[in-house]
Amino acid sequence: MKTIRLLPSGKEINAESGQTVLSALEKAGYALPNNCRAGACGECKAKVCSGEIDQGFILDMALPKSEREEGYGLMCMAKVKSDLIEIEYGTEDALPKLFPPMENLRYAVTEKTQVTPTICRVRLRSLGKVMRFWPGQYVTMGDPENDIPDRCYSIANIPNHEGEILLYITKVEDGKTSSWVHKEVKEGDMVKMNGPYGTFIGDPSAETPVLCLASGSGLAPIQSLATAAMLRGGFRKPATVLFSARTREDLLEFGHFSFLKTKFRNFDYKYTLTREENPGGLTGRIPEILPELYPDLSKHSIYIAGSTEFVESCTAKVKELGAVDEFIHTEGFTSQVQA
Ligand code: FES
Repeated sequence: MKTIRLLPSGKEINAESGQTVLSALEKAGYALPNNCRAGACGECKAKVCSGEIDQGFILDMALPKSEREEGYGLMCMAKVKSDLIEIEYGTEDALPKLFPPMENLRYAVTEKTQVTPTICRVRLRSLGKVMRFWPGQYVTMGDPENDIPDRCYSIANIPNHEGEILLYITKVEDGKTSSWVHKEVKEGDMVKMNGPYGTFIGDPSAETPVLCLASGSGLAPIQSLATAAMLRGGFRKPATVLFSARTREDLLEFGHFSFLKTKFRNFDYKYTLTREENPGGLTGRIPEILPELYPDLSKHSIYIAGSTEFVESCTAKVKELGAVDEFIHTEGFTSQVQA
């Protein structure tokens, strides 16, 4: 077994023999941008500060000679050779570094579907430069030239090299931007987006069970985080998504979360209905039902996303149940409270 030390945090992870640095990082919960996983795109570049790697076969265009000489390597093909290597990774807390936001990126609307009585799902595909983002981040979208203000929408899917972005847009009473999306934007249209923004991203160093609470389109960043953690990150601790919906018709992405629940033994998905009976299931607002479900949250990492009121009431309740400030992550701007 070899050791990979991340700098500047000093966190250490193990690498099995024959394993690539990228897969060792992912297995330990540390996300690294990647695309081809074959040494051809350069996306997984990282600086090796000490120790020796076996770089394997990579293309010159993915990592020019000058960068190799400076110590950079492509982690999708690199294997650890010495007992210990040190690589540059993220921040002091071993969180991934954020990508600089970009403006006026052109996207085509490839799908628009009404998925609940108030939410439509909009799938967009990049027409130019692909936006790089971390699960949990958001974009802004609107048409300011035509008096439709830019509004914030969390990205619901996970990073992908096709440049696809999935958004859930809640129809807001008197909201210019949401009305524009619901009534005017159609498949085939071109729209402009800015981003990514936000720091509602997973904490790879957390070795705790995770509880995610969401309502309405607040499910978007939770979906992105949960999907990335389970499908890409190999997250091993128990993780639960508890979703609050008014009625069955408001159950957003039920199929996707059922899939995750069936596929991963450590993942659970529950929903509660607030305005309809739910025989055999949960009913009532999350702050009301939490004490019985989770009497002690002192060892959990908590992620909360939804309307401001939802986030505030859930945050107050999880604190009452012992959750530690440092492990409570919230995203409260979602489109429900935006025009
Ligand atoms: S992911 Fe493409 S070079 Fe590593």
